[in-house]
Amino acid sequence: MSNPRKVVIIGAGPAGYVCAIRLAQLGQDVTVIEKDFLGGTCLNVGCIPSKALIAAGSLIDKLGHASAMGISVENVKLDVHKLVEWKAGIVGKLTGGVGGLLKAHKVQVIMGEASIESANSVRVKAQGIDELLKTDDIVIATGSIPIEIPGFDFDEKDVWSSTGGLSPDRIPEHMVVIGGGYIGLELGIMYQKLGSRITVLEATDGALPGQDRDCVKIIQRSLKKRKVKLMTETFAQGYERRGDKLHVRVKTKKGDEVVECDQILSTVGRRPYSAGLGLEKVGLKPNERGFLTVDKQMRTSVPNIYAIGDIAGQPMLAHKGSKEGLVAAAVISGQPDEYDVRCIPAVIFTAPEMASVGFTEEQCAEKGLKVVTGSFPFAASGRAMSIMETEGMVKVIADAETDEILGVHMVGPEVTELIAEAALAIEMGATSEDLARTIHAHPTLPEAMMEAAEAVHNLAVHIFQKPK
Ligand code: FAD
Ligand code: NAI
Repeated sequence: MSNPRKVVIIGAGPAGYVCAIRLAQLGQDVTVIEKDFLGGTCLNVGCIPSKALIAAGSLIDKLGHASAMGISVENVKLDVHKLVEWKAGIVGKLTGGVGGLLKAHKVQVIMGEASIESANSVRVKAQGIDELLKTDDIVIATGSIPIEIPGFDFDEKDVWSSTGGLSPDRIPEHMVVIGGGYIGLELGIMYQKLGSRITVLEATDGALPGQDRDCVKIIQRSLKKRKVKLMTETFAQGYERRGDKLHVRVKTKKGDEVVECDQILSTVGRRPYSAGLGLEKVGLKPNERGFLTVDKQMRTSVPNIYAIGDIAGQPMLAHKGSKEGLVAAAVISGQPDEYDVRCIPAVIFTAPEMASVGFTEEQCAEKGLKVVTGSFPFAASGRAMSIMETEGMVKVIADAETDEILGVHMVGPEVTELIAEAALAIEMGATSEDLARTIHAHPTLPEAMMEAAEAVHNLAVHIFQKPK
């Protein structure tokens, strides 16, 4: 085997640590530098803690409906401190696991802040450490941070960022959520389930911009049922504390108003993070949105410097960063790999859940693609009825000429799990007929996807479709 390459990775989130492990598996000499916590945003203050709290909210929500099954659960009580402790325990197990894996793979981990000195050297600073590391390759995996808007600095008391929202010391009575995107809706609905009244202020004309509008309509209907108030085309201007209340000044289509609440959660997006990284020393310049531009092999314009994860562009999702980490590791190790994916699934843990992969109908129209769609409602699924979750549907979008599946969008029970089959179908170039002809076990939720694929050809069995 050839001599191992020395590789320094900056950032140990799901992009950086996955890249480190794969590089070690491929025989390289790897160092990871992390300034805060192993596991990055995802494991510490993102995907994992949010999904833990959301699971707790869903359990309480479900208990509230159990009487229809003849089960009465009285006096359900929530101990917020215990909930937060439980969540921290899960985070601890996973981040400890990442540390263990890095150690087992003989990856050197340095806890400190890294900056690039030259294309072949990285400086690490921490308490008592100021070290210059020589390296063959550098992988930048520094992630992203939440965007602050004027008038709503994150003090994590009155105004929570997502991080504050994941470690509550109480369940707010009325929370104003600024931004009706991924985090605003996931955490907003979670707090609603735990007992808060929620008002969401969204700048655009609907929740979850960019997502399939038929799916979003179902989510918006469900928000209404939950008495979550969604104010669209609305901008928060600032707030004042008056006693134990916060007065949020908002600008709406109809004029200005004040919304009184006792907590603000501001979730208006995230921006790539490269502060203090020394990019200028190697001539790297982020684009106008702050992302580093990379080629299909995850190389920046400096050939031995790679960028992966949130810093390397949209979508800012953990699994996209991990995939890029695997590609960068293979390329550094001399393998002929490249980031050539047909689709990236997205999952949103709202209630009901939403998931999508591939193009939306709007995107198909922009590309001039003629499509046929088929949908199947969960209300017609025996499995959905048996778990009392019949809200939602699956939509399959297929090319009108070739029948190739171009997109699958769904909202309903467990769709965040169901989407994996659709991703595989698109990745393998399957047609909607392939999906329709695949036997799906009964009674299960994925049958809805099979029926949606049948519906593309007007052949769904468990709903009536008018003959064409
Ligand atoms: P990060 O995870 O941000 O890791 C970057 C790391 O680099 C950090 O640990 C940081 O401390 C470190 N770092 C930065 N600069 C330096 C430096 N100079 N020196 C040393 N270390 C440095 N995505 C999903 O796919 N599914 C979800 O369900 C999901 N839920 C989310 C929920 C919330 C509340 C949030 C905030 C995000 C969520 N995301 C989710 C997004 C996901 O967390 C990110 O896409 C993912 O963490 C990006 O991975 P990364 O490795 O690029 O960056
Ligand atoms: P987002 O981009 O999903 O949503 C931000 C929302 O705020 C948008 O709807 C936008 O129109 C709105 N907005 C922007 N400025 C505003 C203003 N001044 N006033 C009112 N509304 C305003 O960003 P979010 O929710 O902060 O999440 C960041 C990213 O983290 C996501 O885009 C996603 O990549 C990732 N994430 C993924 C999750 C998942 O995969 N389940 C869960 C949570 C986050």
